[in-house]
Amino acid sequence: MLKYFSSKHPTNEFAPSWSIPMYSELFNFDESKKIYSWLLDNQKEFLKYPEGDSAVADNPIAHRLGSYNLFDYKNEVDCLQTLYNYIQTLYLDFVTKKGAAIRTCDIIAWFNILEKGEKIKSHHHGANPDSYISGNLHLLKYDTYTIYVSPYDNQCFLPEPDSMGNVTLFPSYLEHFTTEHTSDKPRISISFDIVPYTETENKLPIPLINEEILKEITKEYE
Ligand SMILES: [Fe+2]
Repeated sequence: MLKYFSSKHPTNEFAPSWSIPMYSELFNFDESKKIYSWLLDNQKEFLKYPEGDSAVADNPIAHRLGSYNLFDYKNEVDCLQTLYNYIQTLYLDFVTKKGAAIRTCDIIAWFNILEKGEKIKSHHHGANPDSYISGNLHLLKYDTYTIYVSPYDNQCFLPEPDSMGNVTLFPSYLEHFTTEHTSDKPRISISFDIVPYTETENKLPIPLINEEILKEITKEYE
């Protein structure tokens, strides 16, 4: 569903006014649970990747953000392939309903595990002129909220409950954070960046949409 994080109607020409397009849908619950279990069982596998400088939370998995692509595992893990295909359709729905262009783009995904007492710090996924679309998925129902912050006012929030299977797409520049995780069961979420295609060698992002993929997807709907 296409929705907007919007300002209240400005009462004069100088008051801030914004309307940020976002898109939310529910991913299949069984697939969501399968990914949760797989990530929980295989989290140590990801510690082999190099540690980066920035992290959205203070734990070893969060410090690997940007050094691997979760979708590199989609050929061996069926539920990740299902999620990858689901994100393709969500992306197409989002840009089509928004009236935006379908672009040749890549995707990079990672995951976060929060233990009791942890939270994801305020961050955005990029605000350069080429920044595009990011997203997140909550694999189970959690007691936390993801809180999106107005680019005009850091006290103006859009809180979204972290419900099971919920995938949200949003412009990468949009700041967000989570409330503290307060239950004993680990909170696992997946985050991803959809980036416009660039011709770079040895890059981590993999194709999400290109001409060939679009032809395949269109064939499935015929
Ligand atoms: Fe994020």
